[in-house]
Amino acid sequence: MTSNNDSVRFWNRKAASYAEQPIRDTEAYEKKLAITREYLNPQSSVLEFGCGTGSTALLHAPHVKQILALDSSEKMIEIAGAKAEKEGVSNVDFMTATLTDLQRPPASFDVILGLNVLHLLDDREEAIRRCFELLAPGGIFISSTACIARLGFLIKMLLPIGARLKLIPKVQIFTRETLEADIERAGFQILRSTVFNKNGMITFIVARK
Ligand SMILES: C[S@@+](CC[C@H](N)C(=O)[O-])C[C@H]1O[C@@H](n2cnc3c(N)ncnc32)[C@H](O)[C@@H]1O
Repeated sequence: MTSNNDSVRFWNRKAASYAEQPIRDTEAYEKKLAITREYLNPQSSVLEFGCGTGSTALLHAPHVKQILALDSSEKMIEIAGAKAEKEGVSNVDFMTATLTDLQRPPASFDVILGLNVLHLLDDREEAIRRCFELLAPGGIFISSTACIARLGFLIKMLLPIGARLKLIPKVQIFTRETLEADIERAGFQILRSTVFNKNGMITFIVARK
């Protein structure tokens, strides 16, 4: 899962405004936080990739031993690090990196979070395989992913144009069923797969190694 320079540039440009954006669907967000917490405990070692400005990692921090939170955008990581310092959170390490860059032995983590990021990757299957490798046996992979294959033809045609104009990030188009199959093919057992968001497009999946 290498990160391409266009993506890094896009998210670096976006970081400050992303940090200011309110959560669009708070009800869905709260439900996902609560479900995630069912899989966390004070001994948990957690990895989050594509952590953005770190809000979710900082919310989970009091419930776990430690979190390593990665993002390929150094601006996102700068903001996340500043928030951690301001909030006095000492068990979250923010790092500018992708899953591929990360030098950790297999089975290093109990829980991995990939929130609103798998649809942005050129090779999500590689990312999912890497998560499988990095999780301890029985470890939990939690993802929240835009599965937009059922959007109208026109919108799907406009997406690559928007990305070329650098107005939106490059988005991969696939169905929820494809994503579930990708996760199972990597060796995971899917424990739950739900769409909480009102727009009906974001699939929240909890899977076990
Ligand atoms: C839509 S934002 C989601 C941020 C956060 N997870 C959230 O839910 O608010 C996507 C994030 O993924 C990061 N990203 C994109 N490609 C990445 C990659 N290959 N490795 C790590 N982070 C990546 C972007 O820099 C951006 O911060």
